[in-house]
Amino acid sequence: PVSSTEPHRGETAVGGVPLADIAERFGTPVYVLDESEVRERCRMYRHAFPDAEVLYAAKAFLCRAMIHWVDEEGLGLDVCSAGELELAVTTGFPPARIVLHGNAKSPADVRAALRLGVGRIVIDSPSEIARLAAAVGPGGRQRVMVRVVPGISAGGHEKIRTGTDGQKFGLSLADGGAEQAIARILDQPQLELTGLHCHLGSQITEVAPYAEAVRRLVGLMARLRERHGLVLPELDLGGGHGIAYRPGERALDLTALARTVRTELAAACAAAGLAVPRLIIEPGRAVVGPAGVAVYRVLSVKHTAGRTFAAVDGGMGDNPRPALYGARYAPRLTGRRTTSATAPVTVVGRYCEAGDVLAADVELPADLRAGDLLAVPVSGAYHLSMASGYNMVGRPPVVAVRAGRARLLVRRESLDDVRGRDVGL
Ligand code: LLP
Repeated sequence: PVSSTEPHRGETAVGGVPLADIAERFGTPVYVLDESEVRERCRMYRHAFPDAEVLYAAKAFLCRAMIHWVDEEGLGLDVCSAGELELAVTTGFPPARIVLHGNAKSPADVRAALRLGVGRIVIDSPSEIARLAAAVGPGGRQRVMVRVVPGISAGGHEKIRTGTDGQKFGLSLADGGAEQAIARILDQPQLELTGLHCHLGSQITEVAPYAEAVRRLVGLMARLRERHGLVLPELDLGGGHGIAYRPGERALDLTALARTVRTELAAACAAAGLAVPRLIIEPGRAVVGPAGVAVYRVLSVKHTAGRTFAAVDGGMGDNPRPALYGARYAPRLTGRRTTSATAPVTVVGRYCEAGDVLAADVELPADLRAGDLLAVPVSGAYHLSMASGYNMVGRPPVVAVRAGRARLLVRRESLDDVRGRDVGL
């Protein structure tokens, strides 16, 4: 970690490959993914939750190599579109280990899921129940779960909190909506309800909200057994596990999470006289976020109105998180050594919008200049997967590094790619 009092040494390598070499070979901006770190994080989950089914949330970042790594490490997949699903299945991922989410599944999403034989579909609204049953057709049977809103507020930003009523996802526990939907599912012979699901939100750094979710969902399971004689074998607690973006920040403690969830689940089930259901979790950010580094080239340095702006060749087009959630990052100089003192610099992007600020007032070497490389650690999750085509700038490539070697996973979007969809006058 680089602090403001430490000289920037400019020697950053990831997976044994200097970032400057990657910038030279693949151009900038470029996203670098450390394969060993992704695999290590998958194993960390398997180790912390040995009895649970761990699904990687594909929306955080997906490409064929990622699908392959996740498969090899024994995780399942959480997808939320036919696009993610088809990429996974055509890469050889077993469909039975895939769960389909979505608050507005299109007919094409549902058709793809049924055709490919997805393991479970998570019901998010009452209106999709009869539609899904009809799509499954007579004689067929699809496993489903129900997304419950438990009424718990958690998450790093208002826009990524999904545990309370009043946002678009799920069926309310408080107003009985979840229970009514479940009763309707039980009337459909084409649907087999395997469990309850909830996703509280994202970038959660405390264990307590998960413990509360366990208590509330087990409470609902107990009522379902009383009123409908229903015993559900699965409980999916979603994802949301927070990570540290900057030195000194705190990540969610996975060992503590696993211990707490296990204890709460055992206690709540014992009190209700229920067998302990099989646990499912869906981490996205915590699997891939810390394994990614974005590398940009500085195109200009400007001193104005008492501030220093370093403009780089990427920005909100490849990382919308600062603009959307006020996310903070700690960029560092790479590829050059300097003994210069540091000074506050605002790192901005190349997109035509004043809000295109990657990192405001961060300490960087005072001799920072055009041509320098800046590395932004912890850039693996929700950057490229949310990248846009703003200003007709192509999206950056993804390069994997491992054991001193770099290989291209996703190529840079060319101007031909960008223009290619325009069919003319
Ligand atoms: N399961 C469900 C049903 C979800 O909706 C999500 C994320 C996850 C699992 C994975 O959550 P994670 O472990 O990655 O926090 N774009 C935002 C995050 C949006 C998360 C959406 N759902 C960001 O950049 O912070």
